[in-house]
Amino acid sequence: MSSLKSNRKIWLGIETSCDETACAIVTSDLVVKSNPLYSQYNEHREFGGVVPEIAARAHLEKIHPMIAAALTEANIGLADLDAIAFTRGPGLMGPLLVGASFARGLAKDLGIPAYGVNHLEGHIAAAYLSNPGLKAPFVALTVSGGHTELIFVEPGFQYTLLGRTRDDAAGEAFDKCGKLLGLGYPAGPLVSREASNGNRKFFAFPQGLRGEDQCEFSFSGLKTAVLRYTEENSPEFIRTNIRDICASLEEAIVDILVKKTGIALRRTGARTLVLCGGVSANSHLRSRLTDACKRQQVQFCPPALAYCTDNGAMIAAAAILRDRDDLLQDQWEVKPWLPLA
Ligand code: KG4
Ligand code: ZN
Repeated sequence: MSSLKSNRKIWLGIETSCDETACAIVTSDLVVKSNPLYSQYNEHREFGGVVPEIAARAHLEKIHPMIAAALTEANIGLADLDAIAFTRGPGLMGPLLVGASFARGLAKDLGIPAYGVNHLEGHIAAAYLSNPGLKAPFVALTVSGGHTELIFVEPGFQYTLLGRTRDDAAGEAFDKCGKLLGLGYPAGPLVSREASNGNRKFFAFPQGLRGEDQCEFSFSGLKTAVLRYTEENSPEFIRTNIRDICASLEEAIVDILVKKTGIALRRTGARTLVLCGGVSANSHLRSRLTDACKRQQVQFCPPALAYCTDNGAMIAAAAILRDRDDLLQDQWEVKPWLPLA
């Protein structure tokens, strides 16, 4: 029996929706005891993007070692677990199936419950791990490889979609544009690294739906503009000016995210902003939102860097938060956020 055991429940969180095999041990008071993950970058690099079948196979290989690592790091055994939370969706079908089957099988074997968690609710829950006083209502800006959404979150897990991208997600824009500029995979963090000392005004890349006073996004025009830019300029020019080009690209993405978030805050009157999803690791976005929130006297709640990209702790956290309010059901429906009436 571990020293963790008290009146706190011990949760195992499992995330396998895309290209990270992630497991975590989290106690019901939202203390993360371990959060190891395996990133499948090497498996997908040569294809320049995630290949679902390869991802599913890699999850199958890594899920057991990752669970073992999570238990060892937390200094507990399987018998100490009280419940399991796993990502039910949205995500890639094969990878999701691996996590769900493993979680359900293990839970059955141990005689404990397993609960399916909405991945996007998991990203929002990550903010609670780093901001213990966080309470709804708040606006959440969810920016990942697959999603870009502004959501109004009210008590009782009531979600209202204020706006989302009409085409590419912000992370996808980082990745695809970075790839066009000759950076590696995944390009998001590499664009950000190049951008850190660059001139953000070097080139004015377009910002989709900039002039419209609503919370919708569009990033496909940016991708086309970057493609045109690479056709009109020599590879030598791109290489020489890569820092300034990346800084300008990052500015185009971040500036529109900040602008639309401001609209969402005004529209809802919310005094708290949560930032989440993989792109929330972007330091320029974090710094611009920190400044904007300070100016508008809004409390800013980003997740710690370890909880920005996909991880097991956020999945456990989502289940724990629902469990606290007695609103946890197995297999709750994975549906898109409710559209604004
Ligand atoms: O949330 P996440 O791990 O997976 C999805 O649910 O999609 O997000 C991954 C996305 C990728 O597009 C990646 O390039 C982007 O987050 N990302 C970043 C940074 N770190 C991760 N984008 C910009 N700057 C970063 N520092
Ligand atoms: Zn994600």
